[in-house]
Amino acid sequence: MSELKWWQTAVFYQIYPRSFADENGDGIGDFKGIIQKLDYLSDLGVDAIWLSPHFPSPNWDCGYDISDYTNVAPEYGTLEDFKSFLAEAHKRSMRVILDLVLNHTSDEHPWFLESRSSRDNPKSDWYVWMDSPLTAGEGSEVRVPPNNWQSCFDGDAWTYAPERDQYYYHYFMKQQPDLNWHNPAVKKAMWDAARFWLDLGVDGYRLDAIGTIYEDTKLTPHKVPMDLVELRRASELAGTPAEKKKIKEYWRDMFKHQLGGLGLHDLMKELRAILDEYDGDRMLVGEDDDIRYMGNGNDELNLVFNFPLMLTERITPGHVRLNQKERLTQLEALPLKGWPCNTLGNHDTSRTHTRYGDKQHDADLARLHAALVLTLKGTPFLYDGEEIGMTDLIITDPIKLRDTMATWYYDRLVKELNVAPEEAARRAGEMSRDKNRTPMQWTDDPNGGFSPREVETWLPVNPNHQTGINVKEQGRNPNSLLNYYKHLLQVRRNTPALVEGEYIPLHTTAKNYLAFLRVSSNQTVLVILNFSEARLDLDFSRTKEVKQGALRILFSSADRSAKIKSPRGLEIGPFEAFIAEVQTK
Ligand code: GLC
Repeated sequence: MSELKWWQTAVFYQIYPRSFADENGDGIGDFKGIIQKLDYLSDLGVDAIWLSPHFPSPNWDCGYDISDYTNVAPEYGTLEDFKSFLAEAHKRSMRVILDLVLNHTSDEHPWFLESRSSRDNPKSDWYVWMDSPLTAGEGSEVRVPPNNWQSCFDGDAWTYAPERDQYYYHYFMKQQPDLNWHNPAVKKAMWDAARFWLDLGVDGYRLDAIGTIYEDTKLTPHKVPMDLVELRRASELAGTPAEKKKIKEYWRDMFKHQLGGLGLHDLMKELRAILDEYDGDRMLVGEDDDIRYMGNGNDELNLVFNFPLMLTERITPGHVRLNQKERLTQLEALPLKGWPCNTLGNHDTSRTHTRYGDKQHDADLARLHAALVLTLKGTPFLYDGEEIGMTDLIITDPIKLRDTMATWYYDRLVKELNVAPEEAARRAGEMSRDKNRTPMQWTDDPNGGFSPREVETWLPVNPNHQTGINVKEQGRNPNSLLNYYKHLLQVRRNTPALVEGEYIPLHTTAKNYLAFLRVSSNQTVLVILNFSEARLDLDFSRTKEVKQGALRILFSSADRSAKIKSPRGLEIGPFEAFIAEVQTK
């Protein structure tokens, strides 16, 4: 295992700082809170933390609109608190990577304030500014945006700045102006910011939304016959497969000229070269699923997420097999080969427990999904709270929504599309990412032990913290999901083949279950995940890597007494996750 880098063997855990642990009792998470929970994480058995943005921000996009790249948001603490957090994590042998948002800053960042102030200030070319002609309007001439591009969060991608009589471009909210990455001064400033944290000892970065950094410089308009709000609405109403297919095409076509513009490979190479100047194998993981951003396998990003694995309504054996085949083939094809990276959830998506549940077997499925991410080949990323089975909490009062893309959508539904406010509120609540960002549930106390009882937390705590979905109760219960994760993480850590082994799919036409081997130079492990209620009777004795080798059970979600099983007549229970070492003589 020694040949692998730490980020290949590590299990990452994403901390969403606003919702993780609130030490000072103001209803918002903070660094002192995180520090208090580091023992919890080390006991859970994760090796690395990805921290969502902790920088000063007006919070139009929950921290992804940064107004100072080299500081700490006051609500999270001070730079000293950050340093203590990093030291304490490192003391526990946990690595820490930060979120680096390159595409845009906050519109309150001093760079932008200066840039928008005039056409000839020193930072006038730091953002994407465009002229637009005067057009005849009602009675007098008006300006219209340079083209019909949409922001994926709030309608028009162009916002007019009277100071310059020009428009600036924003792929996300208008409070998140896109930086002009063609300007070398922008690069230099951002690389300096990246170095600031690397100098402090952080182990790398998760790169936010890299696909949005460069857009089509010809500003080719999209041809979709709707705007963002209409497309969102049409997506909700699409019923037939043909309608859904069309909508998917519309989403792709609406944004295709705004994504993946030329230049990103060189940019990633530049950033990678900076990380490589540092010791300790600093790493980069991109928020993108395009394997090409790994360059030759060792000169751009170290990892990109396997988002196609999670982009499905249900995790089925067939879906996983196809996904693995495609991903692993592409990774193998890179000149220096790439390493996979699997995840099923993060702060932008519905929680796995809710999203992939079937409302009947959610608890069983959650266990299977955990076993899947922790046994497939690649670096796993877990999202805080999934280890206790936190679920989505849909906020139906638009006033309480904090995700501004959802409040924007609510307003437009009501005002432009005349949707009834109750329905609009429900739709906004469903699409909002608030539902999967509610505070971590530590205990069954009021406010889930996140904040003192009398405090109003920044997002409501999910009431199901009172029904067993909390760390304290699950810690005491040997059969809890939390202890299941712990056990699984321990087994993974102690089983080299699960970390470094090749993935070999077995029984590849089975609809109900997924079976595969992980094979390393001196260990072969069989994984079976039964996604059905059926009891299975399986035979692996004809598999060449198994043959007559007895199976030594390393882990099972079922209650098993025997420790050794024959590969023939192998019974697997309903929804069982089964991991065994093949004893080859
Ligand atoms: C990424 C983040 C998301 C954010 C967006 C804009 O997709 O994960 O939370 O809203 O980028 O920065």
